[in-house]
Amino acid sequence: MTTVKRHVPLLDLAAQYAPIREEMMAELIPIIDSQRFIMGPAVSELERGIAAYTQSKFAVGCASGSDALLLAWMALELGPGDKVVTTPYSFFATAGSLARIGVEPVFVDIDPVTFNLDPNQVEDALRKHSSVWAIQPVHLFGGCADLDPLFEIGRRHGAVVVEDAAQAIGAEYKGQRCGAIGAMGTFSFYPGKNLGAYGDAGMLTTNDPELADLLAKLRLHGGHNRYYHDLVGINSRIDTLQAAVLKVKLRYLDAWTEQRQANAARYIEMLAPLDLPVQLPVVAPYQTRHVFNQFTIQCERRDELKAHLAASGVGCEIYYPLPLHLQQCFSELGYEAGDLPVSETLAQTALSIPVYPELSLEDQVYVVETIRDFYRAK
Ligand SMILES: Cc1ncc(COP(=O)(O)O)c(C=O)c1O
Repeated sequence: MTTVKRHVPLLDLAAQYAPIREEMMAELIPIIDSQRFIMGPAVSELERGIAAYTQSKFAVGCASGSDALLLAWMALELGPGDKVVTTPYSFFATAGSLARIGVEPVFVDIDPVTFNLDPNQVEDALRKHSSVWAIQPVHLFGGCADLDPLFEIGRRHGAVVVEDAAQAIGAEYKGQRCGAIGAMGTFSFYPGKNLGAYGDAGMLTTNDPELADLLAKLRLHGGHNRYYHDLVGINSRIDTLQAAVLKVKLRYLDAWTEQRQANAARYIEMLAPLDLPVQLPVVAPYQTRHVFNQFTIQCERRDELKAHLAASGVGCEIYYPLPLHLQQCFSELGYEAGDLPVSETLAQTALSIPVYPELSLEDQVYVVETIRDFYRAK
């Protein structure tokens, strides 16, 4: 029997909230007192803040990261018969946002080191498929995909790059913040993200004024003026209360990111000399600012290790247990097990361990010792 000496959650939002509670209430209570919850001033203030933070000209708030993707495809006027090349190793919304408007996700395999789209395979897919209008890299776990080759391939084949930056706010590719490096970027403020709301919220970024205007209309049923609709959009506003929460948290994002980076560096320092059958995350040279939304190791006997960590009080999670090309809802696309081996292997070996900013040194040492003891015991 394993004794539980400590409880180390995968993420501790209560620890983040405690020191900012008063500051948060000072922003939220006036909004609740005013009873004006829709498109209040906090929305445009946050949009300006995110545009500045992501070094984008424009930012448009919406209801979630999933809706941000949907709005991006709607703005590009994609629909049945169109295709987008993307990664199978991501959260469902990456491909679900395409499929729900009849667009076919063309899945290609990923780089085994960065877990992000492999440009060589993107090129092959674009040669094989017609009607591919976009390439959708995901900056997985907080590290940017290698964008330059994707832009080059996109230019040759007439496809734009839309960045799914849901997990990567503040991450940099060759010194440039992700989000508006491509035609558009999409962000999620799901509570577990590095910048998390107190519920669902999302944002799109772009440098193109026409796209920004179109996105701002699409999220308001297709019109800036109430009851006048230039086109058919959806209701996907960002709540004023969520915008206010995010405005407060944005003040801390750089400090939290630095703590995540320090925790990641400390894991590498502590785990690397132990010579365990564990592959540690590698930051590629072009990932000039990795924001470690997750710290994901690849390990032997992953499921046993996960059970051991859980029994020892350590929170951990498998991102992702089944790649998107093998999901039942995409079975008609005709992919089979073995088609995208890097993603499929990672689904068997990847495990994310706690890296949240407030993680204490003692807790981190405990996580490392628990992993070490698991492999040394057998
Ligand atoms: C890569 C990726 N894309 C899209 C989303 C969707 O964001 P949301 O949960 O805000 O709808 C998420 C978040 O969970 C994500 O991790």
